Amino acid sequence: MARRVFIFDTTLRDGEQAPGISLNVREKVEIAEQLARLQVDVIEAGFPVSSPGDFEAVKAVAKAVKGPAVCALARAERNDIDWAWEAVMYAERPVIHTFLSTSEYHMKYQLKKTPEQILEMVRDAVAYAKKYVENVEFSAMDATRSDPEFLYRVYTEAIKAGATVINVPDTVGYALPDEFAELIRGIMNNVVGIEDVVVSVHCHDDLGLAVANSIAACKAGATQVECTINALGERAGNASLEEIVMILNTRRDNMDLECGVNTREIYQTSRLVSMLTGYPVPPNKAVVGDNAFAHESGIHQDGVLKHRMTYEIMRPEDIGRVESEIYLGKHSGRHALKTKLEEMGFYLDDKGLERAFIRFKELASKKKEITVKDLEAIALDEIRTMEELFQLEYMQSSSGTGAIPIAAVRLSREGKSYEATATGDGQVDAVCKAIQKATKVKAKLVSYQVQAITKGLDAMGDVTIKLDIEGHEVVGRGVSPDIIEASARAYLNAINRGIQKGLLEKQKLAQKARGGKAQKG
Ligand code: KIV
Ligand code: ZN
Repeated sequence: MARRVFIFDTTLRDGEQAPGISLNVREKVEIAEQLARLQVDVIEAGFPVSSPGDFEAVKAVAKAVKGPAVCALARAERNDIDWAWEAVMYAERPVIHTFLSTSEYHMKYQLKKTPEQILEMVRDAVAYAKKYVENVEFSAMDATRSDPEFLYRVYTEAIKAGATVINVPDTVGYALPDEFAELIRGIMNNVVGIEDVVVSVHCHDDLGLAVANSIAACKAGATQVECTINALGERAGNASLEEIVMILNTRRDNMDLECGVNTREIYQTSRLVSMLTGYPVPPNKAVVGDNAFAHESGIHQDGVLKHRMTYEIMRPEDIGRVESEIYLGKHSGRHALKTKLEEMGFYLDDKGLERAFIRFKELASKKKEITVKDLEAIALDEIRTMEELFQLEYMQSSSGTGAIPIAAVRLSREGKSYEATATGDGQVDAVCKAIQKATKVKAKLVSYQVQAITKGLDAMGDVTIKLDIEGHEVVGRGVSPDIIEASARAYLNAINRGIQKGLLEKQKLAQKARGGKAQKG
């Protein structure tokens, strides 16, 4: 019988550490519910002590999710563990994940602790977490650059103190697959009590080896992989969940391993995460990229037409990727839209549904065929903006040969209206400047990207904007058949995320300090 590998998803924790991502509580719950439909084994929902937003999000995910275990991260400190427990205690199956560095670089230069002090902290943290909860995971941060003999001692102590999962992170993405497999074998052979716990791996992609290392580790005996949707994560990201799962499924001939993921939910999960995080999926991304199943060369097309297996090792339907069908038209009513969205897995509140319906009608009046992708884009845009501070009520822009582009916006926030007009170098510039004026948030544009959601000239535009607010990057996304409106939505989405991250307060303080200095000077 094939050996089971548990899939531990950390999109909401390590994935959210990718620069510019800042999901609100509602978005995190939406993603967590989709991860439950994907049937991952564990959802790492966040790092509760790190911010009030993270605490609330872990709590909300713990309350909402049915099925997978829900995990909260904590440093090996009692205060962190208290916060983790406070947030995750509502889960059907709560897990506390505590971590401490074990490499010389980290112990000596970052933590300024001796190996003996580290061992003591590990014992204390795991035993403390164990008082709260049965399932405790311990991670030896920077394990792959740690002395293996010391690692064995650390894991042995963690297990003695009650850890049920020991995690081996390649924190800086340094390992090579053969080395990493050797390290796992060393752990399996030298750690006391290892046969009674889950052996987890957590690989980063700095050298592009996160997936290869995770698979090598599973073949060497690891029983859990920590990974993220679309490979999101700190720096170059984590191992990609979709790639790991499809490798396990596609190469059963090579390795007798299996996982419990429902692969038919992979595509929807990838799209949801991409839309809500503002991180587009590159077209050539394995498994979920737009081109992953597109055969361009004549020879390939000829082969596939003769026999699919000539050039296809997976089927698009295996990951739930079905051609967009026409679902609704301009005569469809609210109820039909609600039913269709719920069938697709989107549950909007009344206000969100009303706004989605207005946008659907507008689109239907412009576009002959409304596809699943169109409906999905509208629904995701509504979910994304449901808890936003500023909402876009109205916008208008105009331009022409020889005319100065001008835009007007009306935003609302907690029942109050904010209006502004501005001119710019183009219509997009003008509308973004009007939003800056109305929100009073100063931001520098880092990047601007526009993609068509469906084919054809009447396709909806999907705009991704990256802004720099006081040295912090925030990403926003917006969709509309009108590119200027999509840009306004994306810009406002990024500004709202910046405000949620507390960057407006930072900006006010910085402005005050700058003002102060100028006066003194
Ligand atoms: O990369 C890492 O080491 C981590 C730990 C917290 C597991 O993310
Ligand atoms: Zn990590």
